[in-house]
Amino acid sequence: MSRAASSSHDKKMSAISCHNIIKRYGDTQVVHAFDLDVADNEFVVFLGPSGCGKSTILRMLAGLEDISGGDLHIGGRRVNDLPPQERGIAMVFQNYALYPHMTVRDNIAFGLKRLKVPKAEIDSRIKEVSDTLGLERYLQRRPTELSGGQQQRVAIARAMIKTPKVFLFDEPLSNLDAKLRNHMRIEIAKLHQTLKTTTVYVTHDQHEAMTLADRIVLLRDGRIEQVGSPKEIFERPRSAFVAGFIGTPPMNLVEMSVKDAGSHFELSGRGGVVHVNARRFALEGRERVTLGIRPAHLQVDVNGGRDGGFSGEVQLIEYLGNEVLVSFGGDDNEISALMPSAQSPRLHERVRFVADPQQVHLFDVETGASLLRDGTPLH
Ligand SMILES: Nc1ncnc2c1ncn2[C@@H]1O[C@H](COP(=O)(O)OP(=O)(O)O)[C@@H](O)[C@H]1O
Ligand SMILES: [Mg+2]
Repeated sequence: MSRAASSSHDKKMSAISCHNIIKRYGDTQVVHAFDLDVADNEFVVFLGPSGCGKSTILRMLAGLEDISGGDLHIGGRRVNDLPPQERGIAMVFQNYALYPHMTVRDNIAFGLKRLKVPKAEIDSRIKEVSDTLGLERYLQRRPTELSGGQQQRVAIARAMIKTPKVFLFDEPLSNLDAKLRNHMRIEIAKLHQTLKTTTVYVTHDQHEAMTLADRIVLLRDGRIEQVGSPKEIFERPRSAFVAGFIGTPPMNLVEMSVKDAGSHFELSGRGGVVHVNARRFALEGRERVTLGIRPAHLQVDVNGGRDGGFSGEVQLIEYLGNEVLVSFGGDDNEISALMPSAQSPRLHERVRFVADPQQVHLFDVETGASLLRDGTPLH
């Protein structure tokens, strides 16, 4: 069957629907009421710190792990109890797990041979897949004669050749060095543009998530913390946890005290004062709040005349090339600001930065929930 034919059948064939899915190991629950719909052709990334449940959920989708509760549908069919090979899924792992004694060609063909697919069809599929992934020249080699990136490409080829309805990736680039990781990330993005196969991709690397995902599912302790496009998650984090997890260098999170000044609230702390619009944030009756501001959203206050901002002595300057990351303030309450290298202050100089009021985030001190009022437009 040609790719065109195989991908043109029912449009919704590869949508995934997770409803109230839970996972228990003995008495310990590690995934709590997981609800998510992945659209046909969508590229969804599960992101979160180590141990938050990413692999467990992915393995339940694949059928490699029992589902303790809830419903999983793929292509409109309930698959909770369907064995992995009947789910139309192919999975790529962090350790590529290639067969060392087989050639690249045999590694790629293995799954189809096991399904007793006719040789002529296997040959034409191998040609198609190795063309797409640039593996033609390596088909006769053994995995040990390939670089890490090439081995990972073979693992992807082995998954692709089954023409799966859904691709699952579990940290596929973690074993590669930084340069190769970048390269392979771009290849995976291009592959998805070409094949458009519905994909769920697990990573703890926010950069991978931001660059690959149509939507990110940010997980924490087995629960969804936020689901949204990379832009939504970056611009409107729903909690201080999300705010601190997404973005490099990380957002400054500063506890401030709150004073109601009528049309605005005045926040103070850490050698700084920031005014925020009372219509944007639900601050009524609060004495303290966690303020979030990204290093790039602090600007040097050149003549010291602007309202609100943070002052302090420069403690550290990290040179990043075009920009410097300047840390200023006291010992355990430093704030960082990102600025053009050409404008870098000197070490120990006294500096003053103002926060762009449109870029300020506020969170509940205890729960970390965002205090942005519903309906406030994305800028
Ligand atoms: N076989 C298992 N038995 C018991 N606990 C497990 C098992 N596998 C994973 N866990 C626990 O489930 C949680 C989620 O693990 P995992 O899905 O591997 O996280 P991630 O992939 O996000 O790093 C962790 O707390 C982990 O210790
Ligand atoms: Mg994992």
